[in-house]
Amino acid sequence: MDSTCKILVVDDDLAMREMLTSMFSEEGYEADCAASADEAIERSRDEEFDAVLSDIKMPGRSGIDLVAALRELRPETPVVLMTAFGTIDSAVEAMRAGALDYVTKPFEPEVVLCAMERALERRALEQENRQLRRALDQTSQLGDLIGSSPAMREIFALVRRVAHNRSSVLITGGSGTGKEVVARTIHFHGSRADKPFVPINCTAIPEGLLESELFGHVRGAFTGAHTSKRGLFETASGGTLFLDEIGDMPPGLQSKLLRVLQDREIRPVGGNHTIPVDVRVIAATNKELREEIERGAFREDLYYRLNVIPIHIPPLAERPDDVPPLVEAFLTRHSDGARRSISSEAVKALCNAEWRGNGRELENVIERALALTDREELQVADLPLEHVGQASGSSSVVDRLHSCAVRNLTLEELQDLYIDEVMSLHNGNKVHAAAALGIDRKTLYRRAERRARREAAEHEHPTASVG
Ligand SMILES: Nc1ncnc2c1ncn2[C@@H]1O[C@H](COP(=O)(O)OP(=O)(O)OP(=O)(O)O)[C@@H](O)[C@H]1O
Ligand SMILES: [Mg+2]
Repeated sequence: MDSTCKILVVDDDLAMREMLTSMFSEEGYEADCAASADEAIERSRDEEFDAVLSDIKMPGRSGIDLVAALRELRPETPVVLMTAFGTIDSAVEAMRAGALDYVTKPFEPEVVLCAMERALERRALEQENRQLRRALDQTSQLGDLIGSSPAMREIFALVRRVAHNRSSVLITGGSGTGKEVVARTIHFHGSRADKPFVPINCTAIPEGLLESELFGHVRGAFTGAHTSKRGLFETASGGTLFLDEIGDMPPGLQSKLLRVLQDREIRPVGGNHTIPVDVRVIAATNKELREEIERGAFREDLYYRLNVIPIHIPPLAERPDDVPPLVEAFLTRHSDGARRSISSEAVKALCNAEWRGNGRELENVIERALALTDREELQVADLPLEHVGQASGSSSVVDRLHSCAVRNLTLEELQDLYIDEVMSLHNGNKVHAAAALGIDRKTLYRRAERRARREAAEHEHPTASVG
């Protein structure tokens, strides 16, 4: 026990007060005294005691009144009461009022010391618990999910709350905001954590195959179906199915999915039997589903089925508080071996950037910066420059081009930067990026190859311009 614990002794009997305070002092505690409940209350207003030992019967307010008052004033301070022998009723009353313990007079010094030690120990434990709880509230991480902004804290709370039930969740947010990370965190914090988490991207699979991918098919269901195959719903049995880019699910499949969610059973393609499934569905989209509904591209009834628990992740630009913890996490994730650091100016610059690609773009920037310099601590100048200092449109394209010129970027390098930017805007989709750049896909591939060759050569014969 910490020897500097502060104890307040309350008794109207001067001899008793002196005896107890000197006893506590000898034991290495800091002991103080008060002659009445009122005085003790006054003292407690200005000062926090670790424990209070008080007589019950005193002129004016009693020890029990003191317990009640301290519960309001200092709810964390334990109170031990001293009762005269035979007044067991008031002892019971004292406990009811919230005293931690009582000792019966006359007592052996040992008995009082033990009671106080228990009280102090109890307080220390409670303090520790509170600290742990506070640390938990302030931690900027839940599973792999990172953030300390109010919006992200709300998401943490929501994730914790819904992890244990089976309601459908719809996660919305821009590209790279961490929708999949949220989905995984829900799964791995719930009772389904030891069952599979099965992600499927509705845009990555050709429309014709998506149905059999989800629900399975029987042998001979279509040309090429030589054997029967289990669908992802069955694979995810007992666990979670993550339907990514749900906004792009073809309308025909939307009605089938709706039926599965309602009936909790699937019908494999070409089969005439149904299979019951216990799967939690989490869907995500970066589309505005209400607009899709208005356009007639998304079923409203499916939307309501999925949107039982909506989780929206705002753009990173609206959560600058999340940038520092994300940067820390990405530094750890992408420094191989010894963990590297970053200057506070560089973090500040990152907090002010626009992040149209949200967390994913920030992660790319950190990863690239780490790869491009050997410096132990990343500086502003190490950050890929197109991201720095562009606080919400404050620097014009011309300014940015100027800073490219200052860094002696070749036209080729500048084009690569621009291509990176467009690619990340289109989630790495080469078809879309090529269309936006006004070149065909083959040209984009050829450029990527040329760049890879150039970078490999630079890696072998580093020039002064790198880093
Ligand atoms: N809050 C966050 N915590 C941890 N990692 C994050 C966070 N936000 C983004 N990331 C990182 O960014 C990357 C993209 O995250 P994720 O795939 O979950 O985004 P998304 O919202 O699903 O994007 P998209 O719409 O493009 O599919 C991941 O590598 C992830 O680690
Ligand atoms: Mg995603």
